[in-house]
Amino acid sequence: MEINHIVQDLQGTGHAKFNLQNFEDFIIQDEELKLLKSRFPEMPLDTYSEGNRLRNYIQVAYQNDTLRYGKFEPYQQTKRYNPVTGGVVRDYQNISEEILNTRLFNEIVQKDIDIVKNIDDMPPVEELMIGVHFFRYNAGKEPAYSSPSWLHKDDEDVVFMHLVDVSADLVGGESIIAKHPKKIDRVLRMRKTFDTLVVNHRCFHAVTPMSVPEEYDERNFLHRDIILVTFQKRKGEDFE
Ligand SMILES: [Fe+2]
Repeated sequence: MEINHIVQDLQGTGHAKFNLQNFEDFIIQDEELKLLKSRFPEMPLDTYSEGNRLRNYIQVAYQNDTLRYGKFEPYQQTKRYNPVTGGVVRDYQNISEEILNTRLFNEIVQKDIDIVKNIDDMPPVEELMIGVHFFRYNAGKEPAYSSPSWLHKDDEDVVFMHLVDVSADLVGGESIIAKHPKKIDRVLRMRKTFDTLVVNHRCFHAVTPMSVPEEYDERNFLHRDIILVTFQKRKGEDFE
């Protein structure tokens, strides 16, 4: 697996799909993967928007090849990109120290940084705002869904979506890629742990709403657990 291929795809179509486990230096210790997976059901509900998602968040400061985690600045998206919660300063429970200290978590963030470093039109990673979101889409009779729920571009310039876990019977949860909002180019599904989709502003993307099979009753839930790592240029844009 070569970073060059991913970067070429991104610079061409605006998206790339790969699995982190295809990198030889991406090492998974079973205990750490178990710990990571065990966090998702314990996260609190995102009360800022509809969609039945549990959520944790942390920011990353990258200096001198070192990663530091914390809340360094308020988190908000602009209304231009997110009409639903744009302009609202949101705060989410931190990703726990225990997770932040694992080799696995650091490998994920570091690999994404290594890829972003190779993208031509991005400033040095040290100058970017980096965020990590943990999401559990908690799908039941009432669907779980992303916000915005249809084709969009994110505020962030480069967004990595890493699959951690997904219920086999989950209905929906396909990723959609579109060059123009009226023409769908690709529909894909992440199935394996650390399947990854990365997008930039060259394409629109969406995730289809998630639900359970019809025969389920209201006590049954299925999930899709995602780590989102986002990289954003600082441009002093107005948050109206
Ligand atoms: Fe998005």
